[in-house]
Amino acid sequence: MVSLSYLFCVVVSLLDDPLSCHVQSKPEGEQKTLFVFGDSLFDPGNNKYLNASVEGGSLSWPYGETFFNQSTGRLSDGRIVPDFVAQFSELPILPPYLQPIAHQFTDGANFASAGGGVLVQTHPGTINLPAQLSYFKAVVKSLKKKLGDVEAKKVLMRAVYFFSIGGNDYFSFYSENPNASQSYRRQYVGMVIGNLTGVLKEIYDLGGRKIAFQNAGPLGCLPAMKARSPQLGSGCAEEPSALARLHNRALANVLKKLESKLPGFKYSIFDYYNALGDRVNNPSKYEH
Ligand SMILES: *[C@@H]1O[C@H](CO)[C@@H](O)[C@H](O)[C@H]1NC(C)=O
Ligand SMILES: *[C@@H]1O[C@H](CO)[C@@H](O)[C@H](O)[C@H]1NC(C)=O
Ligand SMILES: *[C@@H]1O[C@H](CO)[C@@H](O)[C@H](O)[C@H]1NC(C)=O
Ligand SMILES: *[C@@H]1O[C@H](CO)[C@@H](O)[C@H](O)[C@H]1NC(C)=O
Repeated sequence: MVSLSYLFCVVVSLLDDPLSCHVQSKPEGEQKTLFVFGDSLFDPGNNKYLNASVEGGSLSWPYGETFFNQSTGRLSDGRIVPDFVAQFSELPILPPYLQPIAHQFTDGANFASAGGGVLVQTHPGTINLPAQLSYFKAVVKSLKKKLGDVEAKKVLMRAVYFFSIGGNDYFSFYSENPNASQSYRRQYVGMVIGNLTGVLKEIYDLGGRKIAFQNAGPLGCLPAMKARSPQLGSGCAEEPSALARLHNRALANVLKKLESKLPGFKYSIFDYYNALGDRVNNPSKYEH
């Protein structure tokens, strides 16, 4: 069974070289650094700093009630996955990149934005992946200024780059093209993966080596999708999930290809599709 603790283990071990699931005391100079790119699953509240109002209600109570005691802009009652990863890695919880505070970029940064996608045309007004990349480049600049090129490169090479992105591209595609042909769907997946690959290569060129992905979930099982088709009853909509599966296969292939082409590139994928799908399909397995 794929469990969330497996995810933490994978990401925390990427942060904690050599591979180990135990949190070790941090040797002198072994700064851990976590850069987060993504959508609502990973957004710690960036959207509340956008000029257009796109936060979608996450700024009101009871969001935040189980941990932060106030709404933070997270689409969660408590912590999101990057918060747990940071805590297990003994890093501070990363604030939203757009929060106007003095950031400690040697710890990393979280650029994720609820609604954001890989493609620029997905949900205008949110922070899409190309915009998140441009924020990351600004962080690289500031690290170089603070540490010098050589030390900054070391930090960037040791850092983990953690992604949850793509779901929104398929939500908007499906909403606009519910009956798309198989070849049009493949073409669209190719466009998403092509742009995502471009971003990964740029991060690699800037020093990034350790990539972690939470893949696309069973999109047809999400309440918003089920609500569109009341005739499904307790079932899930097949098409959106089929798009997510196409995407996840292509993502796994492209990461494998990058690993064989780019020296030092390594990655891990948390299979969120099946982890969440199993919880939706077999909830009794997860009852306490
Ligand atoms: C919001 O608008 C202000 C003023 O126009 C601008 O300086 C700022 O960069 C904008 N913020 C974002 C996140 O786009
Ligand atoms: C939330 O409130 C609880 C109970 O008062 C407290 O223990 C906890 O530290 C608070 N959490 C945060 C993040 O402030
Ligand atoms: C998509 O196809 C279904 C049946 O296959 C049909 O009921 C529906 O009207 C179509 N939707 C659009 C937007 O063409
Ligand atoms: C990236 O996406 C744009 C649409 O936003 C598309 O025109 C372009 O072909 C894509 N690039 C790749 C490399 O797939």
